[in-house]
This record gives sequence, C-alpha cells and structure tokens, in this order.
Amino acid sequence: MRVPVIAGNWKMNTTVSEAIKLVNEMCAQLDKITSVDKIICPPFTSLAPVRELIKGSSIKLGAQNLYFEEKGAYTGEISPVMLADLCEFVIIGHSERRQYFNETGEIVNKKIQAALGVGLKPILCIGERLEENEAGRTEEVVTEQLCSSLTGINYPRGWLVAYEPVWAIGTGKAATGKQANETIGFIRHNIAKLYGKEITQDLRILYGGSVTAENATEFMNQPEIDGALVGGASLKADQFLSIVKQTSEIKGRLSRK
Ligand code: PGA
Repeated sequence: MRVPVIAGNWKMNTTVSEAIKLVNEMCAQLDKITSVDKIICPPFTSLAPVRELIKGSSIKLGAQNLYFEEKGAYTGEISPVMLADLCEFVIIGHSERRQYFNETGEIVNKKIQAALGVGLKPILCIGERLEENEAGRTEEVVTEQLCSSLTGINYPRGWLVAYEPVWAIGTGKAATGKQANETIGFIRHNIAKLYGKEITQDLRILYGGSVTAENATEFMNQPEIDGALVGGASLKADQFLSIVKQTSEIKGRLSRK
C-alpha cells in the first residue's frame, strides 16, 4: 500500500505574514495525521519562514519551480542548490508554467535533471488541454509529456507525478474520479514500460484540478489515485485539513479491505 500524499500548491499567493498565519492555523492538526504525507509549497519568499515553523513536524516543504543552472548571471532565477538547502520537493512542469512561461518538454527535462542532481524530489505535472481532451488525445498527450520530461533520466526515487488536466485547474470543473483514475492507471502503465513494473508499485501519482473538501472523497476512493495536488483549496486551512483527514480515513479503510 502506497502512503497517500496531499500537496498544497499555493501558487503566487500569500505575503510572508499571510503564509505564517496560514501555517499556524493548520500546522498542529496536520502534524497529527501521520498516515498521509503532507507537503506545502508556498512561494519562494516564504520558504525560509515556513521551514522554521514546520521544523520538527511531519509536514514537508516544497518549492513551485526552479531554474536548471546551478548559479550565475540569471537575474531573478532560483537555483536547485539554493532550494536543496530549504526544501525536499519541487513542482516541475506545472501547466501554468508551460502555458505562461513557455516551458517545453526539454526545459522540464533539464529542470528534473537539475533537481535530482541536488537530491530534490520532483513533483512532475502533466495533463492535457481541453481541446486535446475533447479530441480524445489525452493518452497521447500525457505519454508525450512523460517521455519528453524523462528522457535520459534514471528512475527518480521518491518523486511524485501529478496528473492535472489543464481544463480542471482553477476552473471549479474537476474531472470525475473515474476519468482521473483511468488516466492515472494509464500513466502508471506507461511508466512501468519505461522503468519496470516494480518501480511503479510504489510510485505515487496524484490527481490535481479543482480538488476541494467537497469532492475529495470521490478521488480518494479510486485505487489508482494516491493523493492530490491542491491549489485554491490549499489556501484555506479548514479545507486543506479536511482533504488530508478524508484522505487518511478513506485510504486507511481501503487498505484494510
Ligand atoms: P486548483 O489548482 O486546485 O486551484 O485547481 C491545482 C493546481 O494547479 O495544482
């Protein structure tokens, strides 16, 4: 049985004081739920203060992006080495970065290599756009994204994959549990083809896209879905906590079956 994961992607939200307040509102209760891995990904500016607040707790820290060079004249960028000092995970290839910052498969691949090079665990995001979904091209698109992201990379131990259909992100229009389960099963099968079956048995693949406390049950009841990457709802302590609690209950029940 894979340990479920709930990761909160705060995106470009929260000042340092807002981040501290949000963590203080949920830290103690999140810490107690040990059957789920909890990861929070605040903006770069809040990584250091949040790290201090969660020190000694079971909550893990992630960044939302990185640049692939180690150091140098890249004004405004953050390097893998800088992050390795601060956090354990890093989101790579989020659709908002692909869409607004022209991140290609090749760039995603370089970022994964750079992250792994310093021991950061990537949370690789893949997912199709609405028109691709409507044209029945979901499997083709996620396969292409997986292959380009992973070119030349040995199995990254401890990494996570998040299947996030672009049309479901921030829209309030989540996929159904069944749709997400099918695509995640397909992704697992594809990764097994690349790296072998044993590896995918403990690879955790998350669903992301408009997950809330209200619809979390539907996703967590699916056998292929190992957790969620939560955007909007991770900015509300009660919503995030509720998603983590529901995940713990449902996955606990499923594992006893
Ligand atoms: P959302 O974002 O939950 O606000 O849809 C998910 C994500 O982009 O990771």
